[in-house]
Amino acid sequence: MIESPQGRPPVKGIVLAGGSATRLRPLTGALSKQLLPVYDKPMIYYPLSVLMLGGIRDILIISSSQHLDMFQAMLGDGSRIGVNITYAEQERPRGIADAFRIGAGHIGTDRVALVLGDNVFHGPGFSAVLNNSIDRLDGCELFGYPVKSPERYGVAEIDAAGRLLSIEEKPRRPRSNLAVTGLYFYDNDVVELAKDLTPSARDELEITDINLAYLAQGRARLTELGRGFAWLDMGTHDSLLQAGQYVQLLEQRQGERIACIEEIALRMGFIDADTCYLLGKELDASSYGNYLMDVATRFAASALG
Ligand code: DAU
Repeated sequence: MIESPQGRPPVKGIVLAGGSATRLRPLTGALSKQLLPVYDKPMIYYPLSVLMLGGIRDILIISSSQHLDMFQAMLGDGSRIGVNITYAEQERPRGIADAFRIGAGHIGTDRVALVLGDNVFHGPGFSAVLNNSIDRLDGCELFGYPVKSPERYGVAEIDAAGRLLSIEEKPRRPRSNLAVTGLYFYDNDVVELAKDLTPSARDELEITDINLAYLAQGRARLTELGRGFAWLDMGTHDSLLQAGQYVQLLEQRQGERIACIEEIALRMGFIDADTCYLLGKELDASSYGNYLMDVATRFAASALG
């Protein structure tokens, strides 16, 4: 059993990394989309790092049967980075809310954070944003991001005070430009709500229907991730390449890596500097490994004062 920050009631994590990713073919002919490279690391590192930044250490990865082995070979039980990772199969892409049916045993009586395996979040103070949302969680917490083509997403409408008024899944005429991102926090009621869902016209268990159920109870809130934040999803060849270029640009400019799960584990106190150094040493033929050794060395030196 892994403890939550400051005795906080536990929040379980789920990364949904299934789907058929037909829009990315032939890249996804044999490979899982969420294992494709986003510059220097596999796509799933990005959503995984989001959960870790929220202090979430008990994580279920859901994917299709043909890909689970590869995730497992890459991440194992998570103990190397101080988290607990388990795996479950989604037989077919039945919809995002299916994650709470598949993950019911993992969630137990706890709260849960779901992140989509193809979403990248990056911005200042993100860990604090996540922890504030978890601390005030009473129902459901969503994150909104302004986009140019809202009709491709779940779309939220808020009033001048930031209160959530409506949510629509891929509306033809969006009421705002605020997309609902692929990161969701829920209390334990989500497990029962997911059991009662019926598939939509496109035959999916819609996450938007879960969010609407909370909204109807007046228990759905949204935090706007505004200017200075980046939210990217990677459904097409162009968006995949653009996300990689974004990460490359920032990492080369700043000399710091985004979504480096070993570094996050170190900074969150999940592992110590010696462990981080050894993880880097295993990869010392790559700049990623050298970065980890450098981060661990600097961290240990600053801890010594
Ligand atoms: O990215 C945010 C958007 O994600 C939200 O704004 C929408 O409200 C939400 O419905 C969802 O829309 P998408 O059309 O982008 O969802 P998509 O079907 O592409 O699935 C997102 C990821 O989840 C993708 O990496 C595949 C994975 N997935 C999807 C489904 C439906 C699964 O693993 N299993 C599934 O059954």
